Amino acid sequence: MTLSTPTLRTSRLVLRPFTEADAESLFKLQSNAHVLRYWDSAPWTERERADQFIARCRVMAEEESGVRVVIERDSAFLGWCTFNSWDPDFRSASLGFCLNGNSWGHGFATEAAGALLAWAFDTLDLNRVQAEADTRNAPCARVLEKLGFKLEGTLREDCIVNGDVSDSWVFGLLRREWEPVGSN
Ligand SMILES: CC(C)(COP(=O)(O)OP(=O)(O)OC[C@H]1O[C@@H](n2cnc3c(N)ncnc32)[C@H](O)[C@@H]1OP(=O)(O)O)[C@@H](O)C(=O)NCCC(=O)NCCS
Repeated sequence: MTLSTPTLRTSRLVLRPFTEADAESLFKLQSNAHVLRYWDSAPWTERERADQFIARCRVMAEEESGVRVVIERDSAFLGWCTFNSWDPDFRSASLGFCLNGNSWGHGFATEAAGALLAWAFDTLDLNRVQAEADTRNAPCARVLEKLGFKLEGTLREDCIVNGDVSDSWVFGLLRREWEPVGSN
């Protein structure tokens, strides 16, 4: 079992490892205050953050603690998806995603995350995947529901970002509940 970052193809998307060439698109995404309004950290203001993020992808791969993939459509950068915090003892990991605002509402997050989950369940002796969402982030909760995640509880006052205190929902998906979504 290894956690080398895959390249995956769905009917409309390609998921692939980050390269240095993605830094500009990634910075544009992660510095967008509207996209990041329910994120657990403030939008980036320094371009170096993108380089550090991409360097961290390589460390995650080396440590086999997780993978981050670019989501592309027709070679255009739509965003990224992460499968991280892999714990081989607990057989658990976490899922997250972030897409450009102009790509929302077309099922791309569900399609991309579904493909990454399918790869993870195929590749690893994975039992549980966890995802967290700001309780104001209805689209994220809906994506997780469409993927088969169940709402398990609320983390009260989980995040404080620039003084803004927010609660988080915790969602979980177990292997025995997992059914690949139709679109990949
Ligand atoms: C959350 C996010 C990934 C969704 O991406 P997306 O590609 O639009 O997602 P999908 O199209 O696959 O699904 C979105 C679902 O939310 C629904 N939705 C959209 N706005 C909604 C709202 N205000 N209330 C309830 N549901 C809503 C859509 O109708 C769709 O459900 P449906 O297929 O049943 O109609 C995207 O908004 C995003 O990247 N946001 C910024 C980063 C973020 O918050 N990431 C999640 C934190 S881990």
